[in-house]
Amino acid sequence: MPLVTQPLRDEHKELLPLLEQVKMAADAVGGGASAAEALDRAYRFLAEHLLPHAEAEEAALYPVVGRIMGSPDATKTMQVDHAKVGHLTEELRQLREQLADQTPSAEQARELRRVLYGLYTLVKVHFAKEEDVYLPLLDSHLTAEEARTMFDAMEAAAQRAKQG
Ligand SMILES: [Fe+2]
Ligand SMILES: [Fe+2]
Repeated sequence: MPLVTQPLRDEHKELLPLLEQVKMAADAVGGGASAAEALDRAYRFLAEHLLPHAEAEEAALYPVVGRIMGSPDATKTMQVDHAKVGHLTEELRQLREQLADQTPSAEQARELRRVLYGLYTLVKVHFAKEEDVYLPLLDSHLTAEEARTMFDAMEAAAQRAKQG
């Protein structure tokens, strides 16, 4: 029987390869026009795909995890991760804006790498926590019907977040 959380596993499988763009952008910092393109791609992934995904989880998935774990506070640590991803993405937006089309100074290059590698590692660990802890919990507690309702709500929340 397929796992009831398969839709979220599939979504993560689509997002994770795109996360590599964040690491590629960090590796490319200071490398001219291709570095600027890599930075744009990484930023768009974070702002347009990853953050709406996080918002949808907070709206529809984490409350269900909290209910199963017996406390609405159970997912607070993961919400802190989401907030930190949001702050670092905003920092990245500001750095990008300051840069305009210029080559980064040594200081700006250091800042860009700090933010990009930081995001890469934070998001990777965050995904692992969801997949290793939350999804098995949901798989063992939710009926197929309950999971469907949860994913419909998540989809609606993601659409709202993307329209922002
Ligand atoms: Fe998440
Ligand atoms: Fe996720």
